[in-house]
Amino acid sequence: MTDILTHTESGILTITLNRVPKKNSITSAMYAAISDALEVATADPLVRVAVIQGHETIFSAGNDIGDFLKAPPTTESPVIRFLRVISSFPKPLIGAVCGAAVGVGTTLLLHCDLVYAGDNAAFSLPFVNLGLCPEAGSSYLLPRLMGHQRAAEALLLGDPFTAETALEVGLINRIVPPAEVHALAHRQAQRLAAKPLGALVASKRLMKQEQAAPVAARIEEEIAIFGRMLGEPAAKEALTAFMENRRPDFSTL
Ligand code: COA
Repeated sequence: MTDILTHTESGILTITLNRVPKKNSITSAMYAAISDALEVATADPLVRVAVIQGHETIFSAGNDIGDFLKAPPTTESPVIRFLRVISSFPKPLIGAVCGAAVGVGTTLLLHCDLVYAGDNAAFSLPFVNLGLCPEAGSSYLLPRLMGHQRAAEALLLGDPFTAETALEVGLINRIVPPAEVHALAHRQAQRLAAKPLGALVASKRLMKQEQAAPVAARIEEEIAIFGRMLGEPAAKEALTAFMENRRPDFSTL
């Protein structure tokens, strides 16, 4: 699996999305590889922190659209396993984002503890534009993070937002030049890795205690609706239009 690179050193697991020609869009095999790496890291006492990063030019274009058309997610799909694993990962998780972060490229950040972004980062949640609904618990987490109206701009209008906006609403911690993002994330990972693991894990669990059950339930609810919508005409038109490099036509839908 070269589309996902994993590397563990000095207590830090680094997961790199490495499918740059396809803008780091995430296939089922990639979701499975990330889930495997996070599960191994959960069990391995030598791993203390995980970092998820993309490329200096692109974080992720979201779910692979061809995969969506071929195999809509079910409760057993790799994407659902990934969402369950990342949302319950017990150790500190750091996101390092440069370039576009589309769909799950943005929503996965809601499950990171620290997020560093390049000034070229652009976040977008085009679910409605694709005839779909939010995923990864974002319908629960985003309104609570940024307020309903701002979440509606992101989720209903699907307006992309900049790193400055992401910083202002609390989705990310800091903006630096793209060439410095991965190094900053790793410096912060090293700082966390030097701390007592038990204290980190207990603190993270306590911080997320109230939201853990509702987020887990929302992830399941969203994916059931999302899976159904993928089979409906609006999503079929939007996703086929993307693959055919044309504008979708929703005029009869
Ligand atoms: N799934 C599958 N392939 C994707 C993809 C995706 N989500 N996003 C990009 N690609 C592919 C393109 O089809 C293209 O493939 P090709 O070179 O074989 O034609 C290649 O990646 C480059 O994409 P392109 O759109 O030409 O790059 P860009 O720099 O002009 O734009 C994005 C980058 C991320 C803004 C744009 O690709 C995009 O909007 N992607 C779709 C995002 C999306 O809707 N994701 C689903 C969210 S639920």
